Amino acid sequence: MASKLAPTLARLILPAAFILLFIYSTTLLYTPSKEEEPRAREEAVEKAEVEYLPPESCNLFKGKWVTDPNRKPLYDETCPFHRHAWNCLRNQRAHMDRINSWTWVPEDCPLLRVDPEKFLRMMRNKNIGLVGDSLNENFLVSFVCILRRADSGAKKWKKKGAWRGVYFPKFNVTVGYHRAVLLAKYVWLKLPVRRVSSDQVKFKEIYRVDVDVPAEGWAGIADFYDVLVFNTGHWWNHDKFPWETPLVFFRAGKPIHPPLDMYEGLKVVLDSMVAHIQKNFPAKTLKFWRLQSPRHFHGGDWNQNGSCTFDEPLEEPQLDLWFDPSNNGVNKEARLLNQIVEKALKGTDIRLLDLTHLSEYRSDAHPAIWLGKKDAVAEWGEDCMHWCLPGVPDTWVDILVQLIRYRFGRG
Ligand SMILES: *[C@@H]1O[C@H](CO)[C@@H](O)[C@H](O)[C@H]1NC(C)=O
Ligand SMILES: *[C@@H]1O[C@H](CO)[C@@H](O)[C@H](O)[C@H]1NC(C)=O
Repeated sequence: MASKLAPTLARLILPAAFILLFIYSTTLLYTPSKEEEPRAREEAVEKAEVEYLPPESCNLFKGKWVTDPNRKPLYDETCPFHRHAWNCLRNQRAHMDRINSWTWVPEDCPLLRVDPEKFLRMMRNKNIGLVGDSLNENFLVSFVCILRRADSGAKKWKKKGAWRGVYFPKFNVTVGYHRAVLLAKYVWLKLPVRRVSSDQVKFKEIYRVDVDVPAEGWAGIADFYDVLVFNTGHWWNHDKFPWETPLVFFRAGKPIHPPLDMYEGLKVVLDSMVAHIQKNFPAKTLKFWRLQSPRHFHGGDWNQNGSCTFDEPLEEPQLDLWFDPSNNGVNKEARLLNQIVEKALKGTDIRLLDLTHLSEYRSDAHPAIWLGKKDAVAEWGEDCMHWCLPGVPDTWVDILVQLIRYRFGRG
């Protein structure tokens, strides 16, 4: 038996050895190109990282702020995407170290801090859009300044109707902001109200809002973004649209009868814009709606010397006093508007990004009087509406990123 097996084995082993030798030599000759090498390494890292992600069911919006002296922002005043008035480090706002030492701790599970490199790797070839008013721009600046840490080649981007945005070439990721303060299209115009005489017509100035037409800034983005964050709210008041030049709501090109007041109009606009999103945006697009960002004017509204030069966040029992609409305070609109928005979103695939409650605590974190311009406060009042950067919106980013990871972070 043994004598017969030996030559058979030799017949098998010799060719096999030649084949192996051939494969080995071609492997030695092959060197990966410059692009392939880091990409391959990246993929290996991706596979090796089985990352911890808390259960999706946990509520990130309920919790408390605790100080952590070791917490440091992920960017500083040198980020090239800042807006001067929100660049509180540059404008030397008091207590910036303290503002950025506060950490949001949800009740049920940990909020992970964004890892810009891992996040951008996960989002390779994908785009993230924010649509709405300047509070979403505030959000965007925080987001892109954080992500820039992982790609120093990040550059300004302004296409598809975007107001501003940033492209991250290393990952082929775009993060854009589309300004659309009411979401619906609106224009200022003069409306003839009555004929005074045969050659004289009396006009009234109005803002015409077409409830069924999205504002131009985001009319052409339906197929571009993989993640979208909508908001509206901060312009639905009579400071932005005075009683003398009211919002007049149109549908199908005709004024709605009877005319709607501002909040009735908001409801109609929301229903109509939400229906538009549901009909025209792909189901696979991950959609969020960011609820109101609360303001913290104390001692009067923005035009009545209202102030927010606080150096500590509010305590839990103070929140209702400040924000419950029944107390009729100057900052009551956030919760009022949220009720309307939440109703409009029922039954849709748009998820609530309920950042209101956690932000309500943070009376200490607005630019206030530190606006970087000498006469800004005299002219505009304090800014108790937008947020210092770095600051509270960095926590919004952590929350958004954790929620995005549930969709895109599982391979
Ligand atoms: C970049 O991403 C877009 C999708 O946003 C994709 O169409 C395009 O092919 C990507 N480019 C490269 C070079 O991978
Ligand atoms: C705001 O403060 C200025 C200067 O202290 C004062 O002249 C003005 O009357 C105040 N305005 C209101 C509405 O209280």
